[in-house]
Amino acid sequence: MKQFNYKANSEIYLQNEFNSIPGDKSISHRAIICGALATNTSYFTNFLFSEDCLNTIAIFQSLGVHIDIDSSHLVTVKGVGLHGLKEAYKPLDVGNSGTGIRLITGVLAGQSFNSTISGDSSIQTRPMKRIIDPLSQMDAKISGNQSEKGDITPPLTITGQPSLHATTYTLPIASAQVKSAILFASLYSQNATTVIEPELCRNHTEKMLHGFGADITVNGKEIKCSGKNELKNPYNDAIFIPSDISSAAFFIVLGCIVKGAHFMIKGIGLNETRATIIDVLKMMGADITIHNVKGQDVEPYGDIEVRYSQLHNIHIPEETIPFLIDEIPILAIASMFAEGTFKVTNAKELRVKESDRIETTGALLQAMGGKFSAYDDGFECEAPDKFTPFEARSFGDHRIAMSGIIGAIGANIDATIHNCDCINTSFPNFFEILKELNINSN
Ligand code: S3P
Repeated sequence: MKQFNYKANSEIYLQNEFNSIPGDKSISHRAIICGALATNTSYFTNFLFSEDCLNTIAIFQSLGVHIDIDSSHLVTVKGVGLHGLKEAYKPLDVGNSGTGIRLITGVLAGQSFNSTISGDSSIQTRPMKRIIDPLSQMDAKISGNQSEKGDITPPLTITGQPSLHATTYTLPIASAQVKSAILFASLYSQNATTVIEPELCRNHTEKMLHGFGADITVNGKEIKCSGKNELKNPYNDAIFIPSDISSAAFFIVLGCIVKGAHFMIKGIGLNETRATIIDVLKMMGADITIHNVKGQDVEPYGDIEVRYSQLHNIHIPEETIPFLIDEIPILAIASMFAEGTFKVTNAKELRVKESDRIETTGALLQAMGGKFSAYDDGFECEAPDKFTPFEARSFGDHRIAMSGIIGAIGANIDATIHNCDCINTSFPNFFEILKELNINSN
């Protein structure tokens, strides 16, 4: 298993320009799904070729969709229409991807064939009742394993129901994955389905379905999607997938915490439901400027300039948590280089991510010497007086592994982060970028 060993006093290249942050993971999954369900062909550039998204490609290929990746990394998806998928006759494997399993289950619920879908050992512990409840209300037939915690976990068996019922569903938690599973299933019902969000969360599904011609309207926290439409990609040219702000976040924070750093990170997605990490870092005193914003009509993106500055800790505004949920571990690392107490509340969802990120972020911060107290729905922490060499585990969670590495570089202390293979689920060229910065690891 890959481990990362950082040697103190590496000479880091501090004035860097990144063109190489890979495509957005959430948008890449949805590109394959919408492309597959469209009646025509779609082309995508800057697709994220990480394990999670490659698994989504493989699943739709097993369902009979022709998907091609050429030597210039252009992804071509020959859509088969809403009713053109074919039975896979084998279990579908999402690997580590919660987004993959939840969104694709929404699609599979409305098919005229049966499916089984599962993933790695982490996926097999993740709660699925949150999608099974609303999808069952739409007449979907989905079963899985009963978990000790009273939830339902994968493998999921889906008995396809080609005509689902429309429903109105108020989400008990702000979850883009649950919202999206319902919206994809709603394409297979005759009447309009309404999803009501308790708090706004990422909106890529709404944007892409709208772009592909679905009859979908968003009114504040209420989303209505009628099943009476086909999907069609309106663009002849390739669709550019902005680079993933959740991946860029590791280098944005690196720029904030290393004295003398000045990074320009280019082509990063700035969707209004994703870019809040920039606002929060600015609240903490970060020196960040956005340049060159494009693509405002669909998924905006732009260049992020970040310079080192002394940070101070804050209590993250609770209403922003759904917009930041994947960035909490790296923000917690930023807090180790800031004055005062850092506090996160309203973030119980952290407990059911790729790891229990309240526990695993805590273990990482404590390994770095930070002070940490967990709450049921968050934590508070403070920087150590002085960093000393440390070893930390990733717990198989890509964002914990990358947070640990950025923490080690920021602290400029000998450190080992164990089990870093999981970084391939979202950021396959992470180590190449570290090399560009002259940070050597083995
Ligand atoms: C995602 C939604 C988020 C996020 C995940 C990706 C998505 O989960 O944590 O990494 O693509 O829809 P929620 O379902 O908690 O919003």
